[in-house]
Amino acid sequence: MIFDVMTLFPEMIENACNFSILKRALENEIITVNTINPRDFTLDKHKKVDDTPYGGGAGMVLMAQPYVDAYNSITRQQNSATIMLSPQGEPLCESVVKELASFNQIIMLCGHYEGFDERIRNIIKPREISLGDFVLTGGELPALCVIDAVSRKIEGTLGKIDSANDDSFADGLLEYPQYTKPREFMGLKVPEVLLNGNHKEIAEFRQNCRLERTKQKRPDLYEKYLNTNKKG
Ligand SMILES: C[S@@+](CC[C@H](N)C(=O)[O-])C[C@H]1O[C@@H](n2cnc3c(N)ncnc32)[C@H](O)[C@@H]1O
Repeated sequence: MIFDVMTLFPEMIENACNFSILKRALENEIITVNTINPRDFTLDKHKKVDDTPYGGGAGMVLMAQPYVDAYNSITRQQNSATIMLSPQGEPLCESVVKELASFNQIIMLCGHYEGFDERIRNIIKPREISLGDFVLTGGELPALCVIDAVSRKIEGTLGKIDSANDDSFADGLLEYPQYTKPREFMGLKVPEVLLNGNHKEIAEFRQNCRLERTKQKRPDLYEKYLNTNKKG
């Protein structure tokens, strides 16, 4: 999977990918993360990439020319998706992550300041993706969330692909509670069933926990799960 990230702050992306599982995925060439700085494409002699909004108003708007030229400089692979990180986009969720993981290349446009000149949308026609109904200062953190979440879906990124299959949302439910050593901590004991080595009983216990905690914490997901799994 190739991630091409268009950003005015490439170090934010490069540095954050340099730890833990993403770092290993980069070293093992399971993913590639390139950064493209629109400032390198501006025709302005002062390297300007933003200007005041027509019609007035606060802040600075990202100019179309550096972004369109930077976008056109990226070599397009077969089966590639173009995403604009934007609070106006569709929310990032498990099904969107899965869909994105089916591409070979994801090109991402990170905004900043007041956001993009509308003609960038008109010309590039990206899919807009949001991290949620709140406004961040830039698209770099959401782009990193896309890189992280999508990379986990690619075989070889995690130690065992199974470790993603049990995670929350994988089949619509939240994950069961996890425990590790010691068996007892501050008077709290690990449930006995997890210690007896009976895989059938452990699986039943975990499935019941998943149903119960999804019902409690995310009744919306629980209802959806029941409707999807209704028999007959
Ligand atoms: C301050 S925001 C611009 C917001 C824009 N003026 C608006 O109200 O829709 C600057 C940039 O941060 C990114 N951004 C902010 N909030 C985001 C969110 N919730 N999801 C994804 N990207 C976001 C986008 O790339 C955006 O262009």
